[in-house]
Amino acid sequence: LNVVHIASEMAPVAKVGGLADVTASLAKAHQASGLLTEIILPKYDCIKYDDVKELKKMATLHVPWGPDPNRTIETYVWSGLVDGLPVYFIEPNCSERYFWRGKFYGEPDDGARFSFFSRAALEFLAQRQHEAPDIIHCHDWQAAAVGPLLKETYRASGLARTRAVLTIHNMAFQGHLNGAFLQHMGLTPRAAHVTSPDIMLDGNAPPPAPANNSGNPYGHMWLNLLKGAIVYADRITTVSPTYANEVLGEEGKGLQHMLQRHRHKLAGVLNGLDYETWNPATDPCLPAHFTSEDLSGKRACKAALLRELGLPFDGVLPGSNGHDSNGNGNDSGSPWGPNGRPLIAIVSRLTQQKGLHLMKAGLKAAVAAGAQVVVLGTAPDPKDQAEWEALAKEVGAGGDARIVLRHDEAMSHRIFAASDMLLVPSMFEPCGLTQLIALRYGTVPVVRETGGLADTVRDVAKAMPEHEKNGFTFTAKDAPAVEHALQRAINAYRDGRTWWQQELMPRIMRQDFGWTQSASTYQRIYNEAMH
Ligand code: ADP
Ligand code: GLC
Repeated sequence: LNVVHIASEMAPVAKVGGLADVTASLAKAHQASGLLTEIILPKYDCIKYDDVKELKKMATLHVPWGPDPNRTIETYVWSGLVDGLPVYFIEPNCSERYFWRGKFYGEPDDGARFSFFSRAALEFLAQRQHEAPDIIHCHDWQAAAVGPLLKETYRASGLARTRAVLTIHNMAFQGHLNGAFLQHMGLTPRAAHVTSPDIMLDGNAPPPAPANNSGNPYGHMWLNLLKGAIVYADRITTVSPTYANEVLGEEGKGLQHMLQRHRHKLAGVLNGLDYETWNPATDPCLPAHFTSEDLSGKRACKAALLRELGLPFDGVLPGSNGHDSNGNGNDSGSPWGPNGRPLIAIVSRLTQQKGLHLMKAGLKAAVAAGAQVVVLGTAPDPKDQAEWEALAKEVGAGGDARIVLRHDEAMSHRIFAASDMLLVPSMFEPCGLTQLIALRYGTVPVVRETGGLADTVRDVAKAMPEHEKNGFTFTAKDAPAVEHALQRAINAYRDGRTWWQQELMPRIMRQDFGWTQSASTYQRIYNEAMH
């Protein structure tokens, strides 16, 4: 099979969140199993070019892009290698400067930027000399225009046999833009099919129409890119089995009826983790390394991080069993005993999805219970950013918590390694990768049971085989629920039985959340799409 991923993110060169990790690690897993796998990305100005090898301009395209039917945009395609994977970068040379914005998303014309990207990617695939891909694997709304374009506009091109697989990483982002863009994308000739309100147009609330859209027959309507992708995809996946069920209800965020109608194409495939990148035994970002057999390096990571954050370090280190000669916990500052001081981490986008109010309640409750807390996050909404800045000042001055408001890949590794617990109190979570990283680094997850968190974290108090248990969970969306779960985790850390005697840390490190199984599930889905 020959597979091309079309995505807006890929780790480590263009990363905002988990989408980047998944594009890179799924492609790597498939490449390792012999699948011909390539990736197409926008050529953002803010790509980490140091991590792209052999970058060269390899083609110039003239991509049709309205409103004038004769307008084309000169577009360069660059090729390069990222971690050994062949990647193509799309660079339009146009007055809109689509990917020269100094950031990935958050622009008023995001819908247009990524629809253009989808169109240009197809134009490239249709024109290039090699064999057409068997599968185009489209990720999220940014690549959602690919399905409709492939099946309508490019039907007669060399891509007639190519199938589209759509992975929905997050239903909260659907990609809206003015209906006039149907024409920009070259979709209007098929208007009778495409413009049925059921297919791509939402039809209700008219978006603010740009002046040059007056007279366009669709300029008064919303175009919903993800909706079009659902209709046209040959197969659809979401990133965990529980989320695949949830999106058929309220979590479908308005598209549940559409998904119910296309349910026969839908599957939930749990994301895996790239165990080469996320390996505490070799991770180059860490001051010390560790394994499930020898956790002493984790102690050194905790000491170093607390020093870096200016937090007091009580000399007690995770992994030391702190018991006295009678096998009892003691109270002389060992983790196993009433004075144990776990370090609790949050590494997250600071948005409603991630449970902002529960993060704040959890932070305060953990500090009140004598734990230490570190938060690493970014808040795309300026109002949230201001609130977190205020909270950082409030808790930071000589207190037991630190809030670091930036995207810092290396620091995230140091935090996952150093911490005793990771809090993920999401309102909804399609999969979630941070709890998987935490498990790999012996950091016990405390999570709300939703989506992929419910599929991967199993409470130590549940009736199930001991080796499957790996964290603390809660279900309600209110502060007492998160406070109670954290208190149970802190008590377990101090009590000694669950945490130390039953060897919770080495056990969770040995659980397998790698790609092996899910990568072969995707291969099966590709094969089914071909037949
Ligand atoms: P989402 O994609 O919804 O943000 P995931 O849990 O799937 O959530 O993935 C988030 C990814 O982004 C993880 O790799 C996590 O470590 C990383 N991440 C989140 N916030 C930061 C940050 N401020 N600095 C560095 N990495 C971060
Ligand atoms: C999205 C989701 C997250 C998921 C990630 C990768 O960003 O919010 O839950 O892990 O995509 O699939």
